[in-house]
Amino acid sequence: MIMHNKVIAEIIEKYPFVEAYFEENKLDIKGHENKTFADFLNSFSQEEIEDFAIDKESLVLNLEEYINLMKSFLGIQEESGIQSLTILPGHDKSENPEGFNELTIRKSEIISIVGPTGSGKSRLLADIEWTAQNDTPTGRTILIDGEIPDKKWRFSSNNRLVAQLSQNMNFVMDLTVREFLELHAASRLVEDVEGTIEKIIEAANNLAGEKFALETPVTSLSGGQSRALMIADTAILSSSPIVLIDEIENAGIDRRKALSLLVDEDKIVLIATHDPTLALIADRRIIINNGGIHSILETSEEEKELLVKLEEIDHFVQGMREDLRYGKQLTK
Ligand SMILES: Nc1ncnc2c1ncn2[C@@H]1O[C@H](COP(=O)(O)OP(=O)(O)OP(=O)(O)O)[C@@H](O)[C@H]1O
Ligand SMILES: [Mg+2]
Repeated sequence: MIMHNKVIAEIIEKYPFVEAYFEENKLDIKGHENKTFADFLNSFSQEEIEDFAIDKESLVLNLEEYINLMKSFLGIQEESGIQSLTILPGHDKSENPEGFNELTIRKSEIISIVGPTGSGKSRLLADIEWTAQNDTPTGRTILIDGEIPDKKWRFSSNNRLVAQLSQNMNFVMDLTVREFLELHAASRLVEDVEGTIEKIIEAANNLAGEKFALETPVTSLSGGQSRALMIADTAILSSSPIVLIDEIENAGIDRRKALSLLVDEDKIVLIATHDPTLALIADRRIIINNGGIHSILETSEEEKELLVKLEEIDHFVQGMREDLRYGKQLTK
């Protein structure tokens, strides 16, 4: 599942041994390093697929299995951190109890949160960020590894439980991008501050449309640019085991790239979204209504198939968006 969001270059960086897998399967990934494995497979024509008897689905599944086998063979252990996040029900806006008993989300899971505007998606993320103990308007309780979390998580600044990308990004301080990143890097006890800052601005500019510089004041960044900066900052500087993402799609940045930066197999990721592609990338989705969790659905096989279609459409729309942005005339 996680592989779904990573581009080939990232997979190779993390697990260099996958190159052997590509070779064994006669997959020439040269020039495709910036695609996800699934996108790479999608780039074959129908003819090639038939000529080389390519079975996309099993190639994806086998790659995951291969990585897991190699990891256990080499004794690679992922950093453990926390294992699970549990939500215990509270009540909706009309004080009716929520429609589930207990929801446990495990490490490396991606969960989406869907529901109409104003239904309480951001509220749920805020409950998690606050590790609510029946002390928020929803009456929910959040457990970490099955237990009431230590208060240290709420108040510690460099070892936070939750990294949150919230809907509204308000920079209150009048700093340049560099000063802002220096502050962050220092508070997180980074060794190579300069190198880290370079890495973040590069990643941020890779997500944003119009590039910005380290000397740009944060207050003059556009909505999309500040969002891109926060995403890159969170992805590179934060070690928080839980990542909460609110509404990535409204910022006019490349959502797939942003997700692949943020998602990691060590993490628990929750995304509040109105976008069907993001909703279906998740393993499960929480349906919110009138302030309460109404139900929790697994992404079905059929939906996974639809996701491929949706991503094609997305790609198509994205292309048009880019062309329009850069003053091209669209053709049929
Ligand atoms: N169970 C609840 N009890 C009382 N108030 C609630 C409850 N759930 C949500 N609210 C409140 O309802 C309002 C709207 O919720 P929220 O901002 O989370 O909506 P949203 O789903 O994120 O909407 P959007 O899609 O527009 O971002 C907020 O003021 C929130 O605090
Ligand atoms: Mg919201």
